[in-house]
Amino acid sequence: MSERIGIASDHGGRVLKEKVSQYLRSLGHQVFDYGVPVDDADSVDYPDYAQTLAKEVGQGQLPRGILICGTGIGMSIAANKISGIRAALVWDEFTARMSKLHNNANILCLGERVLNHDRALEFVNIWLNSEFEGSRHQNRLDKIRALER
Ligand code: RB5
Repeated sequence: MSERIGIASDHGGRVLKEKVSQYLRSLGHQVFDYGVPVDDADSVDYPDYAQTLAKEVGQGQLPRGILICGTGIGMSIAANKISGIRAALVWDEFTARMSKLHNNANILCLGERVLNHDRALEFVNIWLNSEFEGSRHQNRLDKIRALER
């Protein structure tokens, strides 16, 4: 099924962003790119890009998104400040799968400088194709949502 997926990175994640974007398009998904351009190596502040994409997802304009920086850490910290966001930093197949099964992550965070890029594509694929298990996990997400108020 074709999905609408937002993507953004800082300078430290732009090469992997390009690779992930091409991969998603090759699978037939619609990719909405919020920068930075792959050929722009200027240093930028990742919270600016995290905020832009996370607001699109948190306000329902996009169902999900992917944020990439050098480690994925900064993007995940920033994105999780936005209402309605469950951003998961993943680093292997298991965490990619569990981020959906148990956490229903609506943003996937990746680290360009710490991941094998071909494996990172597989993490994206796993996250896209896993199903949230609901039930007790929904209770826990409700408790997280209550923390926002
Ligand atoms: C940028 O140098 C780097 O700090 C950033 O990409 C990211 O890794 C932050 O968490």
